[in-house]
Amino acid sequence: MQDALNAILAKAAAEFPALASRPEFEAAKARFVGPNGELTAVLKRMGSVPKEERPAAGRMVNEAKARLQAVLDASLARIEAAAEAARLGPAVDPTLPSPDPGPGKYHPLTLVREEMCRIMHKVGFSVADGPEVETEFYCFDALNTPPEHTARDPQDTFYFPPSARFGNVARKNPGEKYLLRTHTSSVQIRTMLKGPPPIRIVSPGRAYRRDTTDATHSACFHQLECLSVDRNVTVRDLKALIDHVFSSLLGPDTKIRFRPHYFGYTEPSFEVDLSARHLPKVNKEWIEIGGCGMVDPSVFASVGYDPAVWTGYAFGMGLERLAMLLYAVDDIRYFYQNDLRFLGQFS
Ligand code: DAH
Repeated sequence: MQDALNAILAKAAAEFPALASRPEFEAAKARFVGPNGELTAVLKRMGSVPKEERPAAGRMVNEAKARLQAVLDASLARIEAAAEAARLGPAVDPTLPSPDPGPGKYHPLTLVREEMCRIMHKVGFSVADGPEVETEFYCFDALNTPPEHTARDPQDTFYFPPSARFGNVARKNPGEKYLLRTHTSSVQIRTMLKGPPPIRIVSPGRAYRRDTTDATHSACFHQLECLSVDRNVTVRDLKALIDHVFSSLLGPDTKIRFRPHYFGYTEPSFEVDLSARHLPKVNKEWIEIGGCGMVDPSVFASVGYDPAVWTGYAFGMGLERLAMLLYAVDDIRYFYQNDLRFLGQFS
């Protein structure tokens, strides 16, 4: 019996130190001490050992069991330590200088947003805010967007399931759906419902559309909205403001052009193109930068302003497009990757 036990122990001593993983360990352990294991087989034979030899045989077996257990324990401890070390990765020396890349810098979208707000602030606009989770009323209905308009299509707009509730975003109409705002124009409505004119606000923020991401599209992007409501506001005021804003931001050689367009919330409506040949990488004469127009009387009606008294203009534009022009960035995805090699280039 001693020979059999010694052979088992020698085999275990050769096998266990070579095991590399927990499953391998469990399989090997079963081969020794499992129901059909080699040591189990010896134990089963104890019954047939003559009575007077049993105490000595029992001692032998117990000793062998203890020695095998020590081999198992050592093997398992080694395997677990290796797994832990792999999980933790290379050793860290906390006494080395920190890999801190230095003081942080502003994100290019933040820089453009802040600069736009600063320029607008100087000419009397203050910053207004609105929620990114909106209801159909603020995003579409009050902006004179008819129920069948393509902008409302679930292929273009992210809707929340009807069961979703946002306690802090009041619904105007029972049963209206919550959505992620598709433009910052919803802030126009929120601002006008808060109080009477005159109003002069600029509202930067995120907007969401069901776009497939590529070099110029992102499902989440940033816009900047502007709204001015007062007596006797005209298209001239709108054009003058836009000229001023873009020449302040991009330099006096910047030219602006209005192209007639259709938006439900403005009449007349225009798309705004700019020409800024002095910017590196701007290789087209005219680049579309946003939309604008004179606030449609139906929008005033939906917020309770008298269209016979009040007039106003609004515009909205994408901040990514502007930042791409200003900093010659040719892929929108760079803005969201948080790569310090990209972010460290702006100040
Ligand atoms: N909301 C429009 C868009 O997302 C942009 C826009 C157009 C905003 C005309 C306005 C406007 O305020 O008057 O494309």
